[in-house]
Amino acid sequence: MTFLDSCALLSCRVFSTFLIRKKILCISAVNFHMDIKDDAKQTMEILNVPPIVSTYRQALRTFDDKFKSDFTTNLQKLRTMMNLLKADDLGFDNTLNDPATWRRPFKAPCTYIEVFQNRQVNMSIFVLKPGFKMPLHDHPHMHGLLKVISGAVRIRSFTEHHLKEEMTSADSTSRAKIEAARLTQGKHMNRRFFAKISQDHICKANSETCVLTPTVSNYHEIEALSMPAAFFDILSPPYDTLIEGIGPRRCSYYNVVNNISTNLVELQETSVPDCFYCDQAPYLGPILS
Ligand SMILES: [Fe+2]
Repeated sequence: MTFLDSCALLSCRVFSTFLIRKKILCISAVNFHMDIKDDAKQTMEILNVPPIVSTYRQALRTFDDKFKSDFTTNLQKLRTMMNLLKADDLGFDNTLNDPATWRRPFKAPCTYIEVFQNRQVNMSIFVLKPGFKMPLHDHPHMHGLLKVISGAVRIRSFTEHHLKEEMTSADSTSRAKIEAARLTQGKHMNRRFFAKISQDHICKANSETCVLTPTVSNYHEIEALSMPAAFFDILSPPYDTLIEGIGPRRCSYYNVVNNISTNLVELQETSVPDCFYCDQAPYLGPILS
């Protein structure tokens, strides 16, 4: 190679390196510009979209199988959004906060407001009469988030306690089969098991959202204190959808039949208590889309 050839080759290399660097700088600039645009879009969305609409969108995303690899992050985002929800964000009718409403003859002790339901998610508001306790019940194979939006409630939650601490997947499969067989035989009232008290606290409108999972805090009872109380609930999947290999997802009720120790009890399935029935009121908040 002559001296001139070497010079030509060197200038080619310098020029191509310059072009590559320029291209990288351009791509970085585009990405940077897109990041700013995304952030701005998100900020605009937070400013313009009513909080319940953002929460609804986040709930659909959280419980959509398409995004199940991000489930934990999405659930945490949903919880954070719910922490900020106020009664006014849901168009809550303040006459339900008035104790006089609950003294009306024939008024049910609980009012149910359906906010949204599809096959993935149920969003609703329950309003409880002063002193009324929603009986101990379960949420079979479901996740749930509960945010108090008015008044104060005592929530006592339980986690099923297996005497054999480590459950293998074979254990779970055989338990599911036993459960399916038991339901098929109509033995709905015989279930008796140990449970640990996982939460027992007073929640108010400024309290954080409570979360239950298929295995943790899946059983709870909710009692209004001296004033009417309301909470917003997101459940997934909703009741009455199918549990694969078992049947419809029914709500069951329980009594504490034995206090074993300060935080361990024995629960017995029971029929729906007569005292528990609801009337309904319409959702008056922003349209969800
Ligand atoms: Fe519940």
